[in-house]
Amino acid sequence: MGIDSTATSSNALQSICYKRGSLQLLDQRKLPLETVYLDIHSASGGWFAIRDMVVRGAPAIAIAAALSLAVETFNLEAFQGSPADSASFLVEKLEYLVSSRPTAVNLSDAATKLKEVVLKASSTFSEAKDVFQAYIEAAEIMLEDDVASNKAIGFYGASSIQSQLKDVNNLSILTHCNTGSLATAGYGTALGVIRALHEQGILEHAYCTETRPFNQGSRLTAFELVHEKIPATLIADSAAAALMKAGRVHGVIVGADRVAANGDTANKIGTYSLALCAKHHNIPFYVAAPLTSIDLSLSSGDDIVIEERSPKELLNSRGGLGEQVAASGISVWNPAFDVTPADLIAGIITEKGVITKAGKEAFDIKGFAQRAASV
Ligand code: MRU
Repeated sequence: MGIDSTATSSNALQSICYKRGSLQLLDQRKLPLETVYLDIHSASGGWFAIRDMVVRGAPAIAIAAALSLAVETFNLEAFQGSPADSASFLVEKLEYLVSSRPTAVNLSDAATKLKEVVLKASSTFSEAKDVFQAYIEAAEIMLEDDVASNKAIGFYGASSIQSQLKDVNNLSILTHCNTGSLATAGYGTALGVIRALHEQGILEHAYCTETRPFNQGSRLTAFELVHEKIPATLIADSAAAALMKAGRVHGVIVGADRVAANGDTANKIGTYSLALCAKHHNIPFYVAAPLTSIDLSLSSGDDIVIEERSPKELLNSRGGLGEQVAASGISVWNPAFDVTPADLIAGIITEKGVITKAGKEAFDIKGFAQRAASV
């Protein structure tokens, strides 16, 4: 019954472990030193796990949120109510889950799709339990679909980069933040492309940034690269321009939390400066993201809400969890994301192919999405 994505001790890269009625999330705050899974029993448990960065990365938080409610729903002792009552119960919890982190559109996209499922089920079925069952099945499909979508991103990204950079020997790619297995249901987006390039014997070297202040790069991406035996080097965020100037990077690939209709892309803070550096050094800069990261309701990145996180992430070591490292009394600005303008982006790698400007000034993302939906 249902899918089984439970943890095995050999797979330290599995952030979401799910079996119908049970959800465990790998506590990514403790990586790379400890592998600890936390039991999540409810939407409320999911909300806190997302807000507190137990689980992070745009696709992973959407799936973790959906499954936290699936687990709560499966374990409900008794629900006295009609199908419409069960739909209201689920819709309210989905809206609550969306409030955990604002920037990644995958979370609200998942919630919108799940709301449609429960509203349809409530008008089809005569018992509340069938609405809950429809919800659980739809949430489980999201977990399954994400891995397939990431593998397709890896495939399209590797083929496109191989043909774009065919004259390059010793291909080196720089990435930022963590977009791998840990940030998704498995395989990853930007790191999935790096994985695919490595699997195909095309990649010579990967570079990952530390990604301060939360160190998703040094703690998580470095961990994945070492685990996968991909030749890789960690750099300080501030070393990226010098690395590019030294000619040691041929392409930059990052993930996305929200891509506006014109291609402006919100991603981890520091992405914009990498794109500017890449432009200066004539290095192609790619975004790799599933179509669920595209928000066609926003015409540009100006309207993307950027999450600001606790000053503690800068004032203390270990992303706020360790000892004080900054001077007492200093004020802090800590946006978790920035927006890279579309004109700095060479292509957006999706599970349906790579969106390019095709010789024009701007991306036609809406047209691409419509064509992808009709295939
Ligand atoms: O704050 P985080 O760690 O959730 O930020 C993650 C990123 O910015 C990723 O690049 C993005 O979510 C894509 S993950 C496949």
